[in-house]
Order: sequence, then structure tokens, then C-alpha cells
Amino acid sequence: MTRKGSSKKSQDMWRGRLGAGLDETALAFISGMEEDRRLVEYDITVNQAHVLMLKKKGIVDKKSADRIVASLERARAEHKRGLLLPRYPRFVDVHPIIEQFVIDELGVDVGGKLHIAKSRNDQVMADIRLYMRDEFLKLNEQLLALISTMLSLARKHRETVMPGYTHTQHAQVTSFAHYLLSHADVLLNDVARIMGCYSRMNLSPLGACAFAGTSVPIDRHYTAKLLGFDGIVENATFAVSSRDVLQEAACVIALLMSSLSRIASDIIMWSTFEFGMVELSDEMSDTSSAMPQKKNPDPMEAIRGKANEAISSCADILSISRGLVTGYHKDFQEMKRPLWKSMDDARFSVAVMTKALRTLIVKKQRMLELVLKNNVTAMDLAEYLTLNTPLSFREAHFLVGLLVRETMNRGKGLSAITSDQLT
Ligand code: ARG
Repeated sequence: MTRKGSSKKSQDMWRGRLGAGLDETALAFISGMEEDRRLVEYDITVNQAHVLMLKKKGIVDKKSADRIVASLERARAEHKRGLLLPRYPRFVDVHPIIEQFVIDELGVDVGGKLHIAKSRNDQVMADIRLYMRDEFLKLNEQLLALISTMLSLARKHRETVMPGYTHTQHAQVTSFAHYLLSHADVLLNDVARIMGCYSRMNLSPLGACAFAGTSVPIDRHYTAKLLGFDGIVENATFAVSSRDVLQEAACVIALLMSSLSRIASDIIMWSTFEFGMVELSDEMSDTSSAMPQKKNPDPMEAIRGKANEAISSCADILSISRGLVTGYHKDFQEMKRPLWKSMDDARFSVAVMTKALRTLIVKKQRMLELVLKNNVTAMDLAEYLTLNTPLSFREAHFLVGLLVRETMNRGKGLSAITSDQLT
């Protein structure tokens, strides 16, 4: 065996236990490379932190460690130029690619020290945790921008009265501001849920190794500190054999997507001709290839559709873990695709919703017209009578019910009644 090998020869070094190379079909089947693309730089950073820790602990000599860190930095540069991954098409995931690059550059006598006290099992979770940490921060920043857009819009519509609905029937008078704030409150819960999940995500699994830690005297806290983690995942088995934080993330994203989907549903319904209470800007609408008059709320419908997907992804992710016995399993790799997709969709959806609300046309007149037409103040009237006459609420409720029936029979609504007529 050569110590400075070509990537082909060194690749065989991974399979000392196995007599033959991995079958092409099996390789393509178990490959997670597509999903790992977005983890490459995180993996390099994780490796660098690990080597610096090994150096600090005197496990790898200073000279070798410095050379490995520099080589990893060259791997990053190669990756940025799009050259790294194509050079190693025969690996199933990103971790051996990075290690192989270092071994190819420095020889196995130096590069081969990189993987001491480390397993792909703790490494992949470190990468994912770092990646999700960044994504959560971006998502929350976007969500706060959306909430602030809603607050600005609400400020303009404090006096914009509109009917509020229960059972999709007129219920009580509300204002557009009140409506918006009801959803801003939900989104603030989403922000809090993301931060909660972030705090559990931001812990280092490194040092957990394959399952139960390592006999090498490492310093887990130092690696955690270098990577900006808040601390470590204490139990090594929990760190590598659970995807608890990814399951939570999928749920948090599914909840956020359902929050957005409900706003989208309102906008879709309220922008029909029948409601006519709001209208999406032209930039946030699409049209029909056949019907020239169409102005369609496609972006809102896409948010609803993607919310379904986020919920299915969440179910996928929960199901993958549900039946697994304790330990790492390749099944975990299958969580990445739905999780990445959910996160991408969530960030995209928040951006789209922000633009839609920023440019939304609010039809105050139409809202007022609907309020005046359809007895939406009936409960207010019953309450007025309860407070200002000897009638109990049940009596007032009955009386107003009769009044509604009577006025409707005459083709009118409650708003046609004056206070004189009441006394
Ligand atoms: N690509 C793998 C995953 O995402 C990394 C861990 C592989 N570990 C192993 N023991 N095969 O789960």
C-alpha cells in the first residue's frame, strides 16, 4: 500500500474489510451526495475545528495539524470553484471526500490523522446542526420582516372596518388591523418556536464518535466553542442515534407553513369577485393563457400547496425515526431531502407573503359595504339592550333574532333600524 496514493488507491483504504469495490448500482442507491452539497463547507469547518482541538490536546502534532487545516482551506477553495465534488464521484457522502482530498494532498501519514476520534455519525450531525442554525437565523430574520410588514399595514387600517367570519358567515365587526394582528401573533409564536428549536440545535455532537464516544482524550467543549455552539450534546448515544432536533425542526416548519397557509386562504377568498375585499398587486398575481380577464392569486395558492408538502415532510421525518432501534441507521440520511425542501419552501413562502402584503390593495369601501349589509352588528345590539334595558342577554338575543328575521323579510338589514325605533 502506498502512503501517498492516487484517490483511486486511497479510496480502497476505506474498504479494508471488504474484498471488492462498491457496486455501481448500490453506490448510486445509497449515495447522499445530492443532499450533502449544501453541507460541504460546514463539513470542512467541522474538520478544521476538530483538528485544532486534536492539536491543542497534543493528539496531533502542531506541524501536521497546521498542514491539515491549510489543506482543508484549499478544499474549500476548490469547492467554491466547483472542482471538488466532481473529482471524487465514487463516494457515497461528503465526509470521505473531504478526508480523501486532504490525504491526496498530504499523504496518508499526515492526512490520515484527520479522522482520529471522529465518525461520520457525529460529523454529519455537526454539519446539519450548523447548517440548520444558519437557516433558522435567516428564516427568523425574514419572519420578523414579515411581521413588521403586517404591523405597518395594521397601523394604516386601524379604522378599516370589515366583517369577521365564523363558519364562513358574517359574525362580528372587526377591523383589518385586528385581523392582521391575529396572524402576527401566530407568527410570533412561530418565531419563538424556531428560537426554541435553535437552542436545542445549537449544541455540539462532536466527540460522540460512532455511538459511545472515544478512548482518545479529546476536549469536546473546545470544539464546541470553536464552532460557536452553546455547549455539547452530553450523551454520545443521543448525539448520534437520535434525530430529535431534526424532527422538531420539521414540526416547527410545518407549523409555520400552516400559519402562512391560512393567511393565503383568506387572501384567496377575499380577492374573489364575490368578496372583493382585497386585491393582490399585479406583480403578485398571474393570469390565464386562455381567459384574458383572469387575475389569479397563484403565489398564495403555491404557499397553500407547499404547506401540504411541509406537513407530509414532517410526517416522513417522524416516520423514519419512529421504528428504529437505538443506534445510527442509514435511514437517517433520508431525512435530509424532506427537511431541506421544507426549509427552502418556508423561506421562500415567507418572502412571497411579505411582498404580497406589502403591495396588497385593501378595499375599505367594499369592507364597509359588507358590514352594513348583513346584520353583522346583531350581537352588539343584543349587548346594548342587555346593558341599557331590563332585558337579560337571552331575551335580548331572542328579540334581536326576531328583528333580524323581520327586517330581512322586508329586504333590509339591522343597519336600517334607528335608535328611536328601538325604544
Ligand atoms: N451520509 C450519512 C448520513 O447522512 C452520514 C453518516 C454515515 N454513517 C454511517 N455509519 N454510514 O446519515
